Amino acid sequence: MKIFVDTADLTEIRRATEAGLIDGVTTNPSLLSAVAGDDDPKELLREIAETVNGPVSAEVVAVESGAMLVQGRRLAAIHDHIVVKVPMTEDGLRACRCLRAEGIRVNVTLCFSAPQALLAAKAGATYMSPFVGRLDDIGESGMEIVSQVRQVYDRYGIETEVLAASLRHPRHVIEAMMLGADVATVPPKVLFQLLRHPLTDTGLENFLKDWRKLGRAL
Ligand code: E4P
Repeated sequence: MKIFVDTADLTEIRRATEAGLIDGVTTNPSLLSAVAGDDDPKELLREIAETVNGPVSAEVVAVESGAMLVQGRRLAAIHDHIVVKVPMTEDGLRACRCLRAEGIRVNVTLCFSAPQALLAAKAGATYMSPFVGRLDDIGESGMEIVSQVRQVYDRYGIETEVLAASLRHPRHVIEAMMLGADVATVPPKVLFQLLRHPLTDTGLENFLKDWRKLGRAL
């Protein structure tokens, strides 16, 4: 399973990349808006794409398919790593079909049901992003969708990748792994949480303490 980091923060992306922790990046308009400030968001996306050796999702901010197409082409032209994100709407799927016909990779975002996931796949989506945490937030089971979609995609030999999104804690990542999601995208906080275990910390501390008793260098 691939791990993407869900942020537009270059410092976090550089840290994760240098540690070899990530296979790609997802952004969305809220994440870009939070960090871009006075900078051109397209320039920020270019820097992110140059930093990461993998796909970088960048989302259109139009609601009509023609305008999505124009923006999608503009985003794809920034860098080969860019994957255009379109929302799971009728217009979004129209734009998805056209962009795919032009060889541009597309991530259909804001998916909340298995039928939506099937329609995204039929439109040729490269990735389909079910938002797990947001379903949990309204008292539904986000992971249930991941499970259903995995079964449907496997049953019909669909190649669209299941990109489990809106993951809020390491337990979500474990569940996504167990259910066979192709990708889990996580905020930096969760990414670095995945590295850690208290028994690793105490184990290391004890090994180093015992070694110091020996009084030798390696
Ligand atoms: C994924 O592509 C989205 O940007 C993201 O996972 C949304 O997460 P949130 O529901 O925590 O905002």
